[in-house]
Amino acid sequence: MFRGSTLMVTGTAGTGKSSLGAHVANAACERGEQALLVLLEESPKQVLRNMRSIGLDLRPWVEAGLLRIWAARPSVYGLETHLAVLAEMIREKVPSVAVIDGISSLSNGIPGTEVSHDVMSIVARMIDLFTSRGITSVITTLGQGDEANTVTMSSMVDTWLLLRNAEANGERNRLLFVLKSRGTAHSNQVREFVLTDHGVELVDVYVGAAGVLAGSARVTQQAAERDEELRIAEELARRRRELHRSVVRAPRLR
Ligand SMILES: Nc1ncnc2c1ncn2[C@@H]1O[C@H](COP(=O)(O)OP(=O)(O)O)[C@@H](O)[C@H]1O
Ligand SMILES: [Mg+2]
Repeated sequence: MFRGSTLMVTGTAGTGKSSLGAHVANAACERGEQALLVLLEESPKQVLRNMRSIGLDLRPWVEAGLLRIWAARPSVYGLETHLAVLAEMIREKVPSVAVIDGISSLSNGIPGTEVSHDVMSIVARMIDLFTSRGITSVITTLGQGDEANTVTMSSMVDTWLLLRNAEANGERNRLLFVLKSRGTAHSNQVREFVLTDHGVELVDVYVGAAGVLAGSARVTQQAAERDEELRIAEELARRRRELHRSVVRAPRLR
């Protein structure tokens, strides 16, 4: 990602959006930079606890003054106020990275047909606010990537990642796609990632006849390849022994 650019992460519930966002904030703090985490869905307590489960301890960064967590309820006081508070917060202390987790919740509890237009306008101004100050931002949105709001938002961001849980062979695996990334060459492949108790990990891609393999299909493929390597190694050793025997035998023939 380029500094000062905007990344949008889309996925349905539990696909790992918040985990990815928290990783970016954590990485900034590890570099000694300021980070801002705006929570629109969960409380700071929930997020601090949940992220510990994937090995991210954000509390020390909060205590060191590197990470600011703001849990906002925009439905309580309106979108305009929300944006104004955010702008003020950024003026006080310019973070190098801002993560807005769960931007789709902006429209929660706000009745009316103008909602999506109002929300989109706020999101556009939020992104402007970040880019004008050189802040790298990560915005997570709930959805499958084909909702009108998501598509509109995607035109405002530089990079768009889609997270998906794919069900196959009786298991659900976590997949990640890059849908777009302005100014960078990127893979066209679906990647598998795993959430572990020591963070988010990208898994090496395994391409089979049916496409990219994930989960146990990948493990089976890896095992088949290891078996094949072992078979080749054994075959090589057998030929070497044969050759050795024939060379040893040769002088006796003379
Ligand atoms: N230690 C862990 N190992 C594997 N998976 C985990 C671990 N801790 C949490 N998870 C998974 O992470 C998911 C939560 O990811 P999260 O980033 O909150 O998703 P989202 O924000 O997209 O809803 C949980 O549903 C759970 O399946
Ligand atoms: Mg979340």
